[in-house]
Amino acid sequence: MKIKGSIALITGANRGLGAAFARGLLAAGAAKVYAAARNPSTVTVPGVVPVQLDVTQPDQVAALARELKDVTLLVNNAGIFEPGPTLMPASVDALRRQFETNVVGPLRLVQAFAPVVAANGGGAVVNMLSVLSWLTLANVSGAYSASKAAAWALSNAVRQELAAQQTEVLSVHAAFIDTDMARGVPGQKLAPEEVVEQALAALEAGRREVLVDPTTRHVHAGLVAEPPVYVGTGA
Ligand SMILES: NC(=O)c1ccc[n+]([C@@H]2O[C@H](COP(=O)([O-])OP(=O)(O)OC[C@H]3O[C@@H](n4cnc5c(N)ncnc54)[C@H](OP(=O)(O)O)[C@@H]3O)[C@@H](O)[C@H]2O)c1
Repeated sequence: MKIKGSIALITGANRGLGAAFARGLLAAGAAKVYAAARNPSTVTVPGVVPVQLDVTQPDQVAALARELKDVTLLVNNAGIFEPGPTLMPASVDALRRQFETNVVGPLRLVQAFAPVVAANGGGAVVNMLSVLSWLTLANVSGAYSASKAAAWALSNAVRQELAAQQTEVLSVHAAFIDTDMARGVPGQKLAPEEVVEQALAALEAGRREVLVDPTTRHVHAGLVAEPPVYVGTGA
């Protein structure tokens, strides 16, 4: 889709990648950017319209879709990462929380805004996914990886369902990005601006999926290796 003149809604736009998406979309010519945040007073990007949204609250999602009738681009960016092993009893609650934010919330947003973007000519949805949609870091990312794998599957599902109304769906997969979420992770990380630049270029080009960095492309290629990359190195 053409970004110039678009009207975007970004979830989790008060910090990290969401704030970078807001800056990037304005720089690329978006006519308006709604920057959604649980606490809209924490939105600091100049030129955006702050709006309140907790993506786990269905009533808030529905109310926002009734209010923002001009949206043409939905960026499902908000997410949480609760690291830890999957075998501890407490991990079930962590799994539920991550599914509510990373899977159910984005799906509710697509459901609510599909008629809005259709009425505005089709538009697009960007779903922020991960290299961990395809890989699990042992003792660390089991529940998060499960949520991003489910979000990937749903991104593929809604792309096919929204094709009839000319709404494009772009999945963005990236390795570690230099935000609060990856603060404890050592080593090199991607700049949020680099991820946004590639996502917006892919959106303009009408692509359905973008693998932002070499690590993500390497893991994706390893899905068909023998043994495949996702089986891990454990006994
Ligand atoms: N950082 C990475 O290494 C990395 C890599 C690949 C993919 N991703 C994905 O990229 C996206 C952005 O992550 P990030 O790195 O920018 O993380 P971040 O710095 O931790 O920011 C997360 C954002 O999501 C918001 N959020 C969390 N729960 C929410 C909820 N229930 N309702 C509304 N907003 C909520 C946060 O708002 P509050 O300020 O209110 O908490 C914050 O704005 C996520 O989907 C993440 O999974 C991240």
